[in-house]
Formats: sequence, structure tokens, C-alpha cells
Amino acid sequence: MILHPHFDTNEQGHLTVGGADAVALAREFGTPAYILDESVIRENCRTYLRAARTHFGPDALPLYASKALSFTGIYRLVAEEGLGIDCVSGGELYTAQNAGFPAERIYFHGNNKTDADLIQALEMGVGTIVVDGDEELTALDALAGARGKEQKILLRITPGIDPHTHRAIMTGNVDSKFGNAIVTGQALAITRRALACKHLRLAGFHCHIGSQIFEIDPFRDAAGIMLGFIADVKAATGFEAAELNLGGGLGVRYTEDDREIDYAAAIAEIAGIVREGAATHGVSVPRVILEPGRSLVAAAGATLYTVGSVKEIPGFRNYVSVDGGMPDNPRYALYQSRYTVLIADRANAPKDYVATVAGRCCESGDLIGEGMPLQRPQRGDILAVLCTGAYNYSMASNYNRLPRPPVVMVRDGKARLAVRRETYADLVDLDVTE
Ligand code: LLP
Repeated sequence: MILHPHFDTNEQGHLTVGGADAVALAREFGTPAYILDESVIRENCRTYLRAARTHFGPDALPLYASKALSFTGIYRLVAEEGLGIDCVSGGELYTAQNAGFPAERIYFHGNNKTDADLIQALEMGVGTIVVDGDEELTALDALAGARGKEQKILLRITPGIDPHTHRAIMTGNVDSKFGNAIVTGQALAITRRALACKHLRLAGFHCHIGSQIFEIDPFRDAAGIMLGFIADVKAATGFEAAELNLGGGLGVRYTEDDREIDYAAAIAEIAGIVREGAATHGVSVPRVILEPGRSLVAAAGATLYTVGSVKEIPGFRNYVSVDGGMPDNPRYALYQSRYTVLIADRANAPKDYVATVAGRCCESGDLIGEGMPLQRPQRGDILAVLCTGAYNYSMASNYNRLPRPPVVMVRDGKARLAVRRETYADLVDLDVTE
């Protein structure tokens, strides 16, 4: 096992992902390529669903935050596993619809939904729209009314929690483009306005405090604050929230330095905190919704690259360049995110080499990571970056006109294409030349 049980080695000393030989996958599908172990995603979905039903009650519905990894096949898989989903754009809604995802199990998020987005959601029959602000509330009420609909909504609230994570992925603070702060009185004010909307049915509240969080304390704080808010709203308006969506954010083990999270235990703990909080604040226990993205899909993935140049600069460092980079994984460039890398051809060999793994873009910040221990590399080796299932393919771009890699799903050692590789023809397809 390397980092997670589904990463292992075979008798040739090659890395295996879900039982499939990574070097053979690279040969079959080319590089760069995203590989996903389907059974890991399914198992994670089951863990969340089982734990949520056990601890929150039989109507619990974990949602998959599909911004983490979005393509038709993943919505099908999540639908089969019985989870709901969180969508944040017309594109995600469209992909979910294309996959036949049950619309009533969709929660539609976003801090700046356009009228077109809202109309699309209403016409698709999206179950819940998480309203972020006043303009959206007014627009949605009118658009729902015009269609003779009563739309279920939640309101996005900012509880003001700093989950001690990287600032760029910290969304629960008061100074945020997301949601309505409790401390400023804006949360209560928008609740009153929502209750007065004729075509909207307020079911409760939503918050999301951040991502890649390893401690339960920030969730304890958020749940406590949200239940206090539910109690204050009840006292001020008589409305008692039936639903509390606590967002996503549980962390994932990307390197040996990260600890393993027991997601079922975390859910049990959050459920206890909510029950306690409800009792303390004298409100009924709401239906709790969690919406994990990263923790469902990140560990399932690996990206395979081919090593090109190996440049050793005496007195400085070693640069190992691969045939992808920031266009397929912008997370180091954006957040200095840490990953585990290895040479898939010699996965059992000692990692006695330290390198900066660089991409192929014309930009010195195009790095996958720095100070990365790996096996001594040579041109033509397959370099694997582990745990790239979340926020890699979904954040990929065509910078430098690089086609996006394919997504390959592995199940029981067998591989199939879930998203084909982009071609140069795809790249020019949108260019209008007349
Ligand atoms: N719900 C809401 C409202 C969110 O904004 C997010 C993530 C999630 C759920 C899922 O959070 P997760 O379980 O994946 O932590 N691109 C960044 C991560 C941005 C997360 C944005 N929101 C990264 O690559 O680390």
C-alpha cells in the first residue's frame, strides 16, 4: 500500500491503481491521463450515506459537491449510490441533467446566479436552491411566480468561522463574497424577507466553512453558531428551520504527513454536536445535510505523466519536467498544495532523489510540487501524482493550447474511458474563422 490501500505495486514493481498496472494504463491511454478507482468513490459514497442515515436519521441525504469532479459518468455513479448533489453553475446542472440525475436531489449553489441560471434550475425542477443574497431572492421569487412554482430554498449564512486553512479556500468568514453574516444582522434580515416571498418556501439554512479541514472543532463551532441562529430566528419570527446544511470540507490524506480521517466517526461526532446544540438552544433537531466533494473523490485519483527532461542544476535543484502541469493540475500554483509523487515503473525502489516536478508550460510557476522525494527518474518514465481525483480535472484549462487529458475509470482492475482526451481539433472547434 502507498498512502491509501488502492495504491499498491505488482510483481513487476509497477504502481497499481485499483489493481490496474499504471504503466500499462499509460501505454493504453497515453499521458497525461487522470485515472480514477471507481470502487473507492463508491465506497466513500456508501460510507457517507450509511453514517448519515445511522446518525442523522433515515431521511439523511449526503450531497456530492460536484465542483470537485464533474463529468457525466460521475453524476450517474452518484445517482446510483443514492446521494444528492451540489451544483454551482448552469454547466454542472446541464451535465447532471445529461446524466439523468434526479433533479429533486439537486442543491443549487452559487454567490452570483444569473437569471438564466435560475430559470434553468426552475425549469429542470431542481429540488433546492441555496439563495446567497437579496437580489437573487427577489429575482428567484419573481421567476418562480411567473412559472406558477413554489420553490424550496435554503439561505446561505456565514457563521464567521476560520477553519485554519489556506485563505484562498476559506469561505465561511464574515468578510466573504458568500452568504449573509449573522453578526451584522444581515442573516436575520434576509430570513425575514425570504419568509415574505410568495413563491419561495424557506426550509432552512446552509453554511460552508472551508475545505481540507482535519479537525472537528470548526464544525462544532459552525453547528453551534447555526443552531443559535435557528433559535434566534425562531424567537424573532416564529419560523423554525427544518433543514441545516453544514457544507463540505473534511480533509483528505495527500501525503504521509496528513493523518487519515475516519469519515463515519466524524459524521457521528457532528450528529452528536447538532443534537446537543439543538437541546441547548431549545430547537428541534433539524435534518442535517453534508456536502463533501474532496473526501469522496480526491484519494480515488492519480494522474499519470511521462517524464521528459531531467535537469540537475549543481548547487540549486533538480527539475523533472512532465508532459502536463498547471493546465491539468493548477493546485500547487494556486495554493502550494502538497502531493505524493512516484515513478510508476519502479514504485518499490527507494525514493532517494529530490526534485521539483515541473510542467511543460511557458511559465516558471508551472510546478506540480517542490522538494518532492521520488525514485531516480529518467526520460520516458511514468510519473504518478497520487490523490488527484478532486479539483484537478474540474479545474483544468487549455493554457498553452494543451488539450485536456482523458479520465479513465478503473474497476476490479479493468479500465474504461469516462472522458476522452481532447484533440487539437477540439481546440480549434470553437474558433470562428469565417
Ligand atoms: N459546499 C460548498 C458550498 C462548497 O463551496 C464546497 C467547496 C463544498 C461543499 C465541498 O467542499 P469539499 O468537501 O470539497 O472541501 N479548489 C479548491 C477547493 C475549493 C472548495 C470550494 N468549495 C482546492 O483545489 O483545494
